[in-house]
Amino acid sequence: MRIIRTIQEMRAETEARRRAGETVGMVPTMGFFHEGHLSLMRRARAECGMVVVSLFVNPTQFGPGEDLAAYPKDFERDCALAAAEGVDAMFAPEAGEMYAGDHATFVNVERLTGNLCGASRPVHFRGVATVVAKLFNACRPQRAYFGLKDYQQVRVIETMIRDLNFDIELVRCPIVREPDGVAMSSRNSYLSAEERRAATILRRSLVAAGKRIKEGARDGAAIARELREAIETEPLARVDYAEVVDAESLAPLGRIHGAALLAVAVRIGRARLIDNLVVET
Ligand code: PAJ
Repeated sequence: MRIIRTIQEMRAETEARRRAGETVGMVPTMGFFHEGHLSLMRRARAECGMVVVSLFVNPTQFGPGEDLAAYPKDFERDCALAAAEGVDAMFAPEAGEMYAGDHATFVNVERLTGNLCGASRPVHFRGVATVVAKLFNACRPQRAYFGLKDYQQVRVIETMIRDLNFDIELVRCPIVREPDGVAMSSRNSYLSAEERRAATILRRSLVAAGKRIKEGARDGAAIARELREAIETEPLARVDYAEVVDAESLAPLGRIHGAALLAVAVRIGRARLIDNLVVET
């Protein structure tokens, strides 16, 4: 596996493979890999001639007071794990390679970014869309692999791809969970043993709310309230949001119909955890 530090080198690398007729698949990440990340790499490996993983802890998607400085890192381990999955190249630029000191251009995907994580993290999706556009331009993939744990991120990037005419297919990948149902996340490493046990409340509450919809409940606000109350039964959990929205537009659903997204963000200890469930009616 090649480790690549510059955009120029990255472009040359994928260009050669693309000219040889290979499909380039890309997995954008911020590192500290777990099975969720590895599942994306595995899928890309099965479907593409060349697989590029980017590892860049993107400063512009962290707000003031968020965990940019504390974000977990283990570059050596990440390289070993990616190499074991058959990744061809790891694009790991320094911040200065990605952002000029007087960087001035940002990608803002409107509407989809006002609620859910966008409400409590106002600059987050602007930073995500901007860095993903830059990573796409550096790696020029035909396919890009994203996990549905970050459902809103998937919708934001799908919309950016469409609106800015990137010639890239986004591949949606399922959420990978621990045996007790907790969605894998680099931020789970912030949890104590007791907090880690408390984190099971997210999935349990989502599944219970999903069951209510399957049984015929259709009042979106009522289900959202039940979801919040279920999470609040866990004393260590502080709900950031618990919402029922349309799975495509992410607009709140008064009456549930079509595909509904049940989405939650919960603070436990110093971690902010997210999870979601799509329910088809
Ligand atoms: P990061 O949090 O490192 O996640 C990288 C990719 O792994 C994302 O597509 C995310 O949805 C996916 N992922 C994380 N946990 C997962 C799980 N349990 N199951 C399935 N997929 C999972 O998301 C980012 O980085 C950044 O915002 C990024 C897109 C790289 C832009 O900086």
